[in-house]
Amino acid sequence: MDKDKIIALLNNDLEGEHGAIIQYLTHAYAMGEGEMACEIEAIAREEMRHLDWMAETIVELGGIPSLERGSMRMDGESVADWMKNNVLLEEDAINLYTEHIKAVDAPKIKRLLQRILSDEESHHGDFEHFVNKAQREKVKDIRGTRQNRVTQFLNWAIEHEYTVILQYMFQSYRTSNEAAKKELEDQAINEMQHLGWLAEAIVGIGGNPRIEHTGVDQSTKIADMLQADIEIEDEVTAKYDRAAKEVEDHDLKKLLIRIRNHETYHTEVFSDLLEAEEK
Ligand SMILES: [Fe+2]
Ligand SMILES: [Fe+2]
Ligand SMILES: [Fe+2]
Repeated sequence: MDKDKIIALLNNDLEGEHGAIIQYLTHAYAMGEGEMACEIEAIAREEMRHLDWMAETIVELGGIPSLERGSMRMDGESVADWMKNNVLLEEDAINLYTEHIKAVDAPKIKRLLQRILSDEESHHGDFEHFVNKAQREKVKDIRGTRQNRVTQFLNWAIEHEYTVILQYMFQSYRTSNEAAKKELEDQAINEMQHLGWLAEAIVGIGGNPRIEHTGVDQSTKIADMLQADIEIEDEVTAKYDRAAKEVEDHDLKKLLIRIRNHETYHTEVFSDLLEAEEK
């Protein structure tokens, strides 16, 4: 199989992982705190590692990791229905990886795909178990339909966080500047924390988190990437700052200030990297 075909096939797998991450996180956030939500979040984190391995392999082969999200199975009335959909999504993944393992000759890539396949088989079993557990323990969707200025802001913030998670991860794959690569990865992980906190906050006040993103910077030079990152961080710092002043709830205010302080830190990290790059 030629390189371009392998890259296309791995990108297909990567898109599937992206879809799985968002499907599982949506479920975990909707269920609030609890053992099952934690276990589902842990599965989503394993899918993030899969995505990361896939992206690194694509880059090693000279390809560009895809930013597209694969298809999701988001319907269902109850938590048990959602878990059934997760079983099906894992079946989709198992079928795809099995096919790709057969198609690829390169031993290193075959090995990686086999490693991932064994995780998906384990997730499949976990979700089968969760179907029964959700019924038995009557686990509920605790999201509400509340919409006001606060939920609107929080959903805007979630959209921002999702966008920068993708932006920083994909920039980290596309740069050979080791210092920038490490910082971009670290800050992407920090933005994932923000997304989780914001989603929990919105559910906590009876709202419904909407996990979508907007346009991701497509620069290819590291200086341009960092410039775009600094701009978006400056903009979001100002927005968190203003929202923190407006919000009345004490805990939410504290959360927004904490996130704002992280964003300020991100701006400083990226500014230092840009300065070093321009020297
Ligand atoms: Fe996976
Ligand atoms: Fe953030
Ligand atoms: Fe940030």
